[in-house]
Amino acid sequence: MPSESLIWQNIESKARAIFSQFNYKEIRTPLFEETGLFKRSLGQTSDIVNKQLLELVSSKEEGFALRPEGTASIVRAYLENSIDKQENLSKLFYIGPMFRGERPQKGRLRQFNQIGVEVIGPSAESLFIDAEVIVLSMKLLKEFGLDNCRLAINCLGNEDDKKKLSDYLREKLKDKVTALCEDCQNRFERNVFRILDCKNPSCRAVVDGIKLDSAYLSEESKNRYEAIKNILRENKIDFIESPRLVRGLDYYNEIVFEISNANLGSQDAVGAGGRYNKLAEFIGGESKRDIKGIGFSLGIERIILALDETKKQIESNLGVYIISLGQGEVTRRSFEVLTALRNKGISSDMNFQGNSLKSQMRVANKSNAKLAVIIGEDEIKKEVVVLKDMAQGEQFEISIAGNDFNNLFNKVRERL
Ligand code: HAM
Repeated sequence: MPSESLIWQNIESKARAIFSQFNYKEIRTPLFEETGLFKRSLGQTSDIVNKQLLELVSSKEEGFALRPEGTASIVRAYLENSIDKQENLSKLFYIGPMFRGERPQKGRLRQFNQIGVEVIGPSAESLFIDAEVIVLSMKLLKEFGLDNCRLAINCLGNEDDKKKLSDYLREKLKDKVTALCEDCQNRFERNVFRILDCKNPSCRAVVDGIKLDSAYLSEESKNRYEAIKNILRENKIDFIESPRLVRGLDYYNEIVFEISNANLGSQDAVGAGGRYNKLAEFIGGESKRDIKGIGFSLGIERIILALDETKKQIESNLGVYIISLGQGEVTRRSFEVLTALRNKGISSDMNFQGNSLKSQMRVANKSNAKLAVIIGEDEIKKEVVVLKDMAQGEQFEISIAGNDFNNLFNKVRERL
């Protein structure tokens, strides 16, 4: 709805300004892709692919699904356009709708919108890129007006480390499988990581009994993780380490993170991300193994839900509302002034009904215009208009004799 769109526009324009500060370029990918892309990238056993993929059924075209997220499509587009041949590092951002077949509830929708970034390329390996991406995610949320966000981070390590962690988890869980919920019983074989972030109390109880530390990490991943944490501290980014944060998608390795907000209920994640050094290889094959990546996405609906009401009151930016008191020549002249103001780049509107001053004033107030220009029979005779400052109540009579609107433009600019 238009009243809500103002807050969306505000978030999107702030995001674009910050992306420009950080030198990220926009990428727009299709809303649907081949289903196989998501299966290969997110993993056959992830909840998104298993339960939430919205596949398109059509007599002519088979095998397409609405995109459940942006990362897979962006890496696909990156490879298809051979961007790695053009630059070593691509810093990309996107804003748009994603689709998941979930049971809708507060903060969980079947069509929702993400603001995200993906940093991809043969030289996307620097740990300062991990730091930049996390700093950027927190900066965006702060600029949107969300102060009390909690950043949780963890390190999954490289592919071997991840395997060690899943073997360890299976070992620890193998005698307790029957105590897990039905979903997690299935996850035990197919996607044991997901058991760690199941919200079911009986699964929580089982998981709480498992000791989790970074013992599975290789020396290299451990050092890298330590170094990133130091950079975050130097940049005054508060975080907590959460060994249970594993993320349910196959493509992640090394650092993963999630940002939550206390103003939200059970669906409290406003954003999440992580590194995906193998994704380009999953999608493009062996020859693409040098291409690394990291990114995150923030859920716009959840950000808006978490914002305080005061921060949602965004005023429209109408400059001038013309009150036209009469018919015929008065309306014609008012429309002329309206066109002249608009041609000068001043946002303006007018009342086309020609009813009483009182009722038009009411509409002008409601429109949130900063200034009103009043034009009636008397003004036309005297070749003037009356300019009223809506907040301060002051009025000025301004000549428009000889169709010279410059005095009016100057006064309007002075007051806006
Ligand atoms: P994700 O954790 O699936 O990650 O989603 C990121 C954010 O999107 C969530 O934290 C949440 O705010 C929002 N979100 C997800 N599902 C819904 C829903 N059904 N309704 C409302 N909001 C939702 C990803 O999508 C990854 N692609 C992030 C990433 C980018 N990793 C690397 N690059």
